Amino acid sequence: MDYHDYYKRIGRTIISSKRIQKRVKEIANEINKEYKDSDVVLISNLKGSFRFLADLVANLKIPTILDFIAFTSYTGTKRRNEVRIIKDLKVNVKNKKVIVVEDIVDTGYTVDFILKYLFDFKHPLEVKICTLLDKPSTRKIDVPVDYRGFIIPDLFVIGYGLDYKEYFRELNDIVEYKED
Ligand code: IMP
Repeated sequence: MDYHDYYKRIGRTIISSKRIQKRVKEIANEINKEYKDSDVVLISNLKGSFRFLADLVANLKIPTILDFIAFTSYTGTKRRNEVRIIKDLKVNVKNKKVIVVEDIVDTGYTVDFILKYLFDFKHPLEVKICTLLDKPSTRKIDVPVDYRGFIIPDLFVIGYGLDYKEYFRELNDIVEYKED
C-alpha cells in the first residue's frame, strides 16, 4: 500500500475549510476575552495541531508565548493505549497560564498524559485544553475540554494538519478516511 492506495480511501468532507476558519476565529475571540489581562503559553502537541495553532495565533490579540511538545498514541488509524513523549518543552511554564492546543481528543489518553506530565514536572499555574475536534463517543478516560471547535462522530478524519501515515496534512478541509 502506498500514497495512491491511501488516496482512494479519502471519503466525504466532514468540515469545510470555510467552517474551520470561522470557528477558529470564534475560539480565538473567546481566548482573547478570557486572557485579556494575562500572558499565556500556548503548547501545541505536534504534529496534527500545527495548522490549527497557526490560524489560532493569527487571530489572537493577547501576549502569547508558543512552544511545542510531541507525544504519540497512534499508528495509522489504530489506537494504542501507550503514550510516548518524543519532544519536550523548551519554555519554562512554571507558574504560567497554559493552553494546550490539540488537533483532536479521541480516547482522551493523550490529553490525560499531557496534563499529568505538565503538573508533575513543569508546575504551571493552570492548564486549559483547546481542541479543534472532539470525538466524545470514543472517550476511554474523562478529560476536561475547555475550548472545542467541533464535535465529530467516530470516524477517522484527515486534513487540516491531521494525517494518515503522515500524509494528507495539506488538505484544507477535514475529510473522512475510510478504514479497511
Ligand atoms: P487520544 O489519545 O486517543 O485522545 O488521541 C489523540 C491523538 O490521536 C490526536 O492528537 C491525533 O494525533 C490522533 N487521532 C485521533 N483520532 C484521529 C483521527 O480521526 N485522525 C487523525 N488523527 C487522530
